[in-house]
Amino acid sequence: MSHVAIVLAAGRGTRMKSSLPKVLHPVAGRPMLHWVLDAVTGSGPERVVVVVGHGSQLVAEGLGDGYEAVVQEEQHGTGHAAGVGLAALNGIDESAAVLVVPGDTPMLDVATLDRLLASHAAAGASVTVASTELSDPSGYGRVVRREDGSVTGIVEEGDADAATRAIREVNAGMYVFRAGDLARDLSELTTDNAQAELYLTDVVGIAAARGRLVIAEPADPEVVAGVNDHAQLAAAASTHRRRMVERWMAEGVRMIDPDRVYLDHDVTLAPGVTLYPNVILEAGTSVEEGATVGPDVYAAASQIGPGARVWYAVVRSSVVGEACTVGPYASLRPGSVIERGAHLGTFVETKNTTVGEGSKVPHLSYMGDATIGARANIGAGTITCNYDGFAKYRTTIGDGAFIGSDTMLIAPVAIGDGAMTAAGSAISRDVGPGELGVERAKQHNIPGFVERLAARYRAKRTEETPS
Ligand code: UD1
Ligand code: CA
Repeated sequence: MSHVAIVLAAGRGTRMKSSLPKVLHPVAGRPMLHWVLDAVTGSGPERVVVVVGHGSQLVAEGLGDGYEAVVQEEQHGTGHAAGVGLAALNGIDESAAVLVVPGDTPMLDVATLDRLLASHAAAGASVTVASTELSDPSGYGRVVRREDGSVTGIVEEGDADAATRAIREVNAGMYVFRAGDLARDLSELTTDNAQAELYLTDVVGIAAARGRLVIAEPADPEVVAGVNDHAQLAAAASTHRRRMVERWMAEGVRMIDPDRVYLDHDVTLAPGVTLYPNVILEAGTSVEEGATVGPDVYAAASQIGPGARVWYAVVRSSVVGEACTVGPYASLRPGSVIERGAHLGTFVETKNTTVGEGSKVPHLSYMGDATIGARANIGAGTITCNYDGFAKYRTTIGDGAFIGSDTMLIAPVAIGDGAMTAAGSAISRDVGPGELGVERAKQHNIPGFVERLAARYRAKRTEETPS
């Protein structure tokens, strides 16, 4: 039998001390709420209502198709939030199963929700709550049982006496309710508690007191862990990271130190990729077969081609082609396209620039708004002067061109195929194919100059020294 779902995501997340709504804090490059929604969707609900409140617009905006946002204007607690969600589901059958899940448990998986729903249905329970044993249960609601093991209720930490606090079985925060029972019990909640809120957890005690069947379904503590502060956010991110690196290593990726590899959720890696320590690959990045990345690489929204080698580099919204070498100490800004076999070396920055097949920009260069053909060589210290303080202009460099060291390419300017520029030239006029562009004063050497200069200083010193 199918079910409906309510995701509670209206809380402020006071303990995060952040203006960003808690459920939007990212884990592996994605808001934690979205990880929760994936798990909920995976359990196959007929409808999913997301209760939003704090930062409601921001939270609702990011929801994909298939989710209904409902606003809890004032946040009077999880019981109040569940009521708002249930009201949005109006008209559902009394006997329907309602899955309620918090939006702050980013490790949650489909298997845990499937087990919760299956146990609820099999037992014919009124309430089924996911619980877990923690060595440090602080901050969580404690699951209280009778001597025969049956659940009598959940007591929040702030309302618990010492004996109750010592209980290590905690409420994971996910529940399945029988819709009719939930509606009735919610109407009986009071704010007579430490936080002066309507606790959803009190529904468990109300159901048990009425003699209805309440069961607790054990869950993996790592999977149901909640995020209330930055330490827990970091712990969740670290668990995600471990899962992801393990998955990629199983797919044939070699990692020198998996603890120092940071991958966002939608990064793709091919078998035979090697990642050195301190590699951060953010959303939308792919690395193809046989490429070696790191140490010390930050890449976002970029493609790194087969067999490429990228180390000590920053690569943003760029494409590094097959067998290219990049770094050490290169910065590829958005729109850089490095074609097959090309090389960007040390202290090289590119932006909105194509470097053609087999071309080399080995040392100390800035290539901005440029199109470089194939097999060109850009001498050390060469710079595109692409900006005159008002507008940006393009530089074009032909196939096989040889740009002398320390050339200033004052855009707009074009260097033809097979052309050269003389080292130290400030080139502001186009250089035709096969031509040499020279722009510098003719050198002339002055014979005997150094000796004459030295003699002048010697004479001066004799004058100034008193006898
Ligand atoms: C809650 C449970 C606690 C459980 C823990 C598990 C209650 C009273 N306590 O505590 O027993 O061990 O989760 O992680 O339920 N929310 C709203 N509207 C509100 C208040 C909260 O939508 O008015 C949402 C929050 O955004 C959050 C979720 O409900 O996603 C849980 O709220 P939170 O304040 O984090 O509850 P905990 O103190 O963690
Ligand atoms: Ca919480």
